[in-house]
Amino acid sequence: MTDVLARIGAYWNAAAATYEQAAGHHPQTPLEWAAWRGVLARLLPPAPARVLDVGAGTGILSLAAAHLGHTVTALDLAPAMLQRLRITAAADGVDVVTINGRADEPPPGPWDAVMSRHLLWTLPDPVGALRSWRAVSPRGGLLLLESLWGDAAGPVERGRVRAGGWLRQLRGTRHGHDGHYDEALRAALPLADGVTPEAIVDAVTEAGWSWPRVERLADVEWAMSRQLPMPDRLLGVNTTFAVAAD
Ligand SMILES: C[S@@+](CC[C@H](N)C(=O)[O-])C[C@H]1O[C@@H](n2cnc3c(N)ncnc32)[C@H](O)[C@@H]1O
Repeated sequence: MTDVLARIGAYWNAAAATYEQAAGHHPQTPLEWAAWRGVLARLLPPAPARVLDVGAGTGILSLAAAHLGHTVTALDLAPAMLQRLRITAAADGVDVVTINGRADEPPPGPWDAVMSRHLLWTLPDPVGALRSWRAVSPRGGLLLLESLWGDAAGPVERGRVRAGGWLRQLRGTRHGHDGHYDEALRAALPLADGVTPEAIVDAVTEAGWSWPRVERLADVEWAMSRQLPMPDRLLGVNTTFAVAAD
């Protein structure tokens, strides 16, 4: 486990410099930021709440929540990702406390909400991590933000992603950070092929959270697709969804 986490941390430290360049990884326009703020305003408890962002990375959720008036702590394995978060927070004039650490060893809180985006796929024990978040927010809520990608997304979504890759290749534009986990690392991660809403609802329930609720984030998809050139816009963007629970 320690070796797996060390390799994952090294991967994201190396990815930090280019992570935000990819559409879908990080908001590229004020409209996209506004869409994410709208989602968090709707699905987090009223501000100011004590919110933990697990696997916060460069801070899409932490920054949006801080702008809404929440007291935010960002937890991540990769110091280089958190460093970028701190730089943006300082530039934006918002406070976010950053903690370098493991997802399954969250700070004690108690938290009014634990939120996370695009993390579960890279955890060796996603249910164990969800259970540890429950323990530090006994009266709080859970908010997971996810997208469909990878083999788990099914043939239609995979075809769309592949076509988008060809278009970018033709245009000579990069998609963002390079590289992928190797096979040995992927074998240690039960959701390495991507997450589905079904798998997340099951994991959340198994971890002891109650009444999972799912929404498709059409507002975020709409904001993301409006910045795309034609014909990419016709292909659309990855299906994006939220799972909230008590
Ligand atoms: C795909 S990025 C998502 C970052 C951010 N949540 C976002 O949506 O842009 C995954 C992040 O999870 C972090 N991470 C991966 N495994 C972790 C673990 N076991 N504990 C804490 N953070 C982890 C990585 O360092 C990386 O910053």
